[in-house]
Amino acid sequence: MSERVYFFDTTLRDGEQTPGVNLNQEEKVEIALRLEQLGIDVIEAGFAAASPGDAAAVRAVAKAVTKPMVVSLARANKGDIDAVIEAFKGIDNTGIHVFIATSPIHREKKLNMSKEQVINKAIECVSYAAQHFTHVEFSCEDATRSELEFLREISEKVIEAGATVLNFPDTVGYTTPEEYSELFQYILENTKGVEKVILSCHCHDDLGLAASNSIAAIKAGAMQVEGCVNGIGERAGNVALEEVAALLETRKDYYQKDTGIVLKEIAKTSKLISRLTGVSVPPNKAVIGNNAFTHASGIHQDGVIKDKSTYEILKPETVGFMETKLVLGKLSGRNALKKRYEELGYTISQEELIDLFAKYKDLADRKKEIFDEDIIALLETKSAAE
Ligand code: KIV
Ligand code: ZN
Repeated sequence: MSERVYFFDTTLRDGEQTPGVNLNQEEKVEIALRLEQLGIDVIEAGFAAASPGDAAAVRAVAKAVTKPMVVSLARANKGDIDAVIEAFKGIDNTGIHVFIATSPIHREKKLNMSKEQVINKAIECVSYAAQHFTHVEFSCEDATRSELEFLREISEKVIEAGATVLNFPDTVGYTTPEEYSELFQYILENTKGVEKVILSCHCHDDLGLAASNSIAAIKAGAMQVEGCVNGIGERAGNVALEEVAALLETRKDYYQKDTGIVLKEIAKTSKLISRLTGVSVPPNKAVIGNNAFTHASGIHQDGVIKDKSTYEILKPETVGFMETKLVLGKLSGRNALKKRYEELGYTISQEELIDLFAKYKDLADRKKEIFDEDIIALLETKSAAE
């Protein structure tokens, strides 16, 4: 039987930490409503304590959506937690996400706290948060550079204090799939009370491993994946949630996981987020890039014309794009040219095609991209010569 993986979207919080991105309340609500259509389970709407504007936006998002749980981030201090309590006052289906750093480098250089002090702070804050929320996520910031034994110890303590979700962020994109998988296995096998909570993964892409690490965590038992659509976020970004969703769908044979993601909403969501954040999607980006379903070489184009699955493991329609695209260039073959003429309403005989293809190749040597007008012009030069 397939198990369910929950999708936690932090576009409005970690995503807003993308350099240069600043979303206003209206834009945040628009994105949240779109994320709801996408089937996201948990929306992190912001960081209520950051500013009155952030608190108001967090509240507005929680009021706007109906299905997803909405959470706000809080550092492990009473002031931050109070800001979240205030922002969500009177609104159902809301929760809190409390974090404190656990790695030696953060404890010593940033917090100037001992292990014991970090644990006590975590217990105090999670207990306080649990008096106000039934959904309390606790994150060990920089978990992947923390001692496993310390992660186990703090996890047991916060579970006792009332945490319902435990998150182990790869805050600086440092881990590898094998190592991250071992972290989850270790926590699952050694932590008292772990069966009562949801384990969550949260990966950054500093070494380009965010999707691989997230999927390794899921395979090892993580039940929630955190990230942002389009992979935006601090520095190199968070894991691109559409990649994880597409992967779990495409390789359901191997991973056997269900998600609530409505894949055909991916394209629309990606476009909206790109437009509102001003962060454009690179053409070669997996799943959502302009080239993700575009075939350029003659061999590939010929294969795709015969059967799309020769070179496509995911159909563009599945993730909400209109169609497979064949770009005409110097590598294109005869079949691709014929198909384009047919799409444009021209019927070309085999004999005509031989002649047109020779002219086409000549043109393609001189011109990088061939447009419809170019191939129509070839037809016209041909009829003028007759
Ligand atoms: O990357 C990270 O560690 C975070 C935490 C605040 C959860 O975003
Ligand atoms: Zn993060």
